[in-house]
Amino acid sequence: MAIKRKLGIVGAGNIGGILLLEIAARKLARTIGIVDIKPPAVAAGKALDVAEGTPIINADVNFVASRDFSALEGCECVINTAGVPRAMRPDGTFPSREELLATNLQIADAVADGINMYCPDACLVNIANPLDAIVYRLHQKLKKPKHRISGMAGVLDTARYRLFIAQEAGVSVENVEAMVLGGHGDTMVPIRSCTRIAGMPVEQFISSKRLDEIEDRVRKAGGEVVSLLGTGSAFVSPCWATLEMMEAQVHDKKKILPVATLLEGEYGVHGLFIGVPAIMGRGGIEKVIEVKMTPAEKELFKASVEAVRQTAREVDRMGAEMDKAKKAARKPAAKKPAAKAAAAKKQPAPGKKK
Ligand code: APR
Repeated sequence: MAIKRKLGIVGAGNIGGILLLEIAARKLARTIGIVDIKPPAVAAGKALDVAEGTPIINADVNFVASRDFSALEGCECVINTAGVPRAMRPDGTFPSREELLATNLQIADAVADGINMYCPDACLVNIANPLDAIVYRLHQKLKKPKHRISGMAGVLDTARYRLFIAQEAGVSVENVEAMVLGGHGDTMVPIRSCTRIAGMPVEQFISSKRLDEIEDRVRKAGGEVVSLLGTGSAFVSPCWATLEMMEAQVHDKKKILPVATLLEGEYGVHGLFIGVPAIMGRGGIEKVIEVKMTPAEKELFKASVEAVRQTAREVDRMGAEMDKAKKAARKPAAKKPAAKAAAAKKQPAPGKKK
């Protein structure tokens, strides 16, 4: 059975914690490195907890944990969950994924620095939100070949769509084949023309009016969980979705999955991370598949790409400011005019005796 030598997780919060135990239970790696800045040593605490259970589940896994990025040393692949999740505000509303952008961009830069320092050759799967924007920024900083960096969104959005369809049709979730593409936000596009129940068109089971309602629920499904939890966002299903991508790589499955990948001309899009179906195997994203969509789906997909483009522009603007600030912080501080004058006063004027 294929197994990675070392997998890394950034963030030992809700998603990172579940990833840790699932990677160990599924024996996907011989060593797991986990990083979290949270004191006193949350990553080490979570790793020790899982480690102490491994004899019970017969998993020979080593754990390395740290508050800096050193636990990622030598990782073959890293999953990034570091970021602030959506949480309910006191007035009952909650921020959009985009509102998380400012905070999570700063965190993304720290993650990129850590990866560049300790495992520059690792492949990367990003989960942190806003998904499309963070993976775009990580790519700018890491400069990895496009097949080695991706974002998890489509697998989760598709799982939600499949569940709601199965519930509505009264059939097994295993019977539902579907695909949700585009950005990981309110503009995501469930591709109804590709949706099948045991090979039959979904509309044979569910009316198109009801499918409209289901698709609307899919677009808002992340928010539905946030408003129920009150303290954070979904964490079990995003973890399982990410591991579907990771298992496809570890076991070289050549599995077609909807993933956020850098498009360079496919679907007529250049330079953006967009959710599209791709073959995943040992090489990471091995091939992007172009789906035939109906004219209406094409329009929705185009609108979703535009929404991602807007966020990417925002990332470019904010990222440039962050880079400038970092550069300025690295320069030795110039003396203030007042300080200079005071220093000049202290110095005896040339030629004058004290
Ligand atoms: N380095 C390392 N860890 C960090 C850093 C950093 N620079 N910044 C934040 N973290 C850690 C936090 O300390 C926290 O433990 O990331 C963890 C995030 O965990 P949670 O707050 O529990 O969030 P989670 O539910 O796991 O979601 C993480 O995934 O789905 C997205 O929107 C979600 O962006 C969010 C991310």
